[in-house]
Amino acid sequence: MFSYVFMKILEMRPGSYDARMDRVSKGRVRAVKEAVAGEILAGGHVLEIGCGTGELAAMMIQRGATVDGFDLSPAMLAVAGKRIEDEGLGGRFSVRPLGVDGMDRLPDRAYDAVVATLVLSELSDDERRFAIKHAARVLKPGGRLVVADEVAARSMSRRLFQALIRLPLMALTYLVSRALTRPLRNLTNEVAAAGLVVAKEARSHGDAFALVVARRPGEETD
Ligand SMILES: C[S@@+](CC[C@H](N)C(=O)[O-])C[C@H]1O[C@@H](n2cnc3c(N)ncnc32)[C@H](O)[C@@H]1O
Repeated sequence: MFSYVFMKILEMRPGSYDARMDRVSKGRVRAVKEAVAGEILAGGHVLEIGCGTGELAAMMIQRGATVDGFDLSPAMLAVAGKRIEDEGLGGRFSVRPLGVDGMDRLPDRAYDAVVATLVLSELSDDERRFAIKHAARVLKPGGRLVVADEVAARSMSRRLFQALIRLPLMALTYLVSRALTRPLRNLTNEVAAAGLVVAKEARSHGDAFALVVARRPGEETD
């Protein structure tokens, strides 16, 4: 449940990121990605925000999608590039170095789905709102935004428990990586504020993790 706190440490070694994330989370991160991929329609054109090493992209491609991924980290993208070579994903998976602050350069209404797993919790408040706003803009009418990330639990007592457990883990993470992640406090409201209709919010991991699916109003793409 709290393995996500260590993400920034694990990202320091991109070549082993997926394997170690899977081990630390006891397979939960892989299961989360399978659930996200399950929300993507076959034949869809998908934008993946912070695609990292491309593990999720490969799952979506297996289900018939084509994926444009971007990420701030050249080292993570190098692993994604190797995956494209090794798994023969060329033509179905493209990656480029880009931060979410460059999302305003992406075309309007171009994608059937936009996905972000374990990325929004790494962003500042301004970056996160900017990313959600432009995710909504680049979706075709009827297209889906799928977000999976650590969130603040809904009840005060669970939030307190979450904070108490996270605190020492955060201190360790910060000491090693000089970076932190933050559980999202207001994800569904921020998604709705961008003009999307929240269709699903599935909570797990003791209410501390959410899979959110939202749709851009208009004609369905499925
Ligand atoms: C925890 S990893 C998750 C990677 C991938 N989504 C996954 O689920 O395996 C977070 C990723 O977000 C990327 N990232 C962090 N801040 C970003 C930003 N401002 N713009 C684009 N990517 C960013 C990191 O480089 C990293 O690859």
